[in-house]
Amino acid sequence: MEPRLKIEVNTTDETRVAQAKRALHVVGTGSENHTGLVLSFLDSHTELRRPDTKVGNGFFIDFSKVDRRQGAGNLSKKQPLPKAIGATTHTVIDATAGFCGDAILLALMGFKVVAIERSPIVSLLLHDGMRRAKEDADLWAALHNNLTILEGDAKQLLETHKNVDSIYIDPMFPQKKKKSPLPPGRIQLLSQIVGHDLDADSLFCAARNTNAKRVIVKRPNHAPQMADDPVVVHKGKQVRYEVYGLAP
Ligand SMILES: C[S@@+](CC[C@H](N)C(=O)[O-])C[C@H]1O[C@@H](n2cnc3c(N)ncnc32)[C@H](O)[C@@H]1O
Repeated sequence: MEPRLKIEVNTTDETRVAQAKRALHVVGTGSENHTGLVLSFLDSHTELRRPDTKVGNGFFIDFSKVDRRQGAGNLSKKQPLPKAIGATTHTVIDATAGFCGDAILLALMGFKVVAIERSPIVSLLLHDGMRRAKEDADLWAALHNNLTILEGDAKQLLETHKNVDSIYIDPMFPQKKKKSPLPPGRIQLLSQIVGHDLDADSLFCAARNTNAKRVIVKRPNHAPQMADDPVVVHKGKQVRYEVYGLAP
């Protein structure tokens, strides 16, 4: 059963109230599988918060906060992620969108990205982020229509998106035990909603059975390799990107 949460309306804007009502049917309160989280509809945005966090201080997707200076820092193609995606790649499927942290960077770097997310709660937050991105003329121009978000299970949706250059997979992976008892806030929120991606192997197989030239898997450095035949591995400080060809 899909995770549920409490829906709260903190706006009188009719369009926003209507959006909250629709959300209530899809992800709203239920006694079973309740995340204990609240989804708040404010005038400006939709945020996810713990019940003890003040309204307005929750987490929401804000693509305008991404550092967009071309070629510098965030958007440099010298980083391990774009290197793994490939210099000759134009089209990418991000089969595990999450909060689109990677997908937005790839889209702003100029890749044409379709980001797929199966959690209706996460998808709702992503669409809220896209709604506000469209209202930000500079951001929208920088995005160049390079980011499309789809809700559904990528294992099925890949069937209809077989002809892309690269497929990117970043499944949830258990955090390594460390001094801090809690992982960073947004990752913790995400894992409260989606849990662990126990079917990551079958998503990987589905990706390798498309016509994509490469399948890229992001793994924490402490995790075992997804398979034993990566063509190349690009290493970052905490994660690595394993690049695979088609099914052997
Ligand atoms: C670790 S997060 C991805 C984080 C993302 N790369 C980012 O930068 O924000 C994994 C996400 O993939 C989603 N996911 C896992 N398997 C999926 C599948 N088969 N189809 C669609 N979404 C999937 C999970 O619901 C979760 O939101």
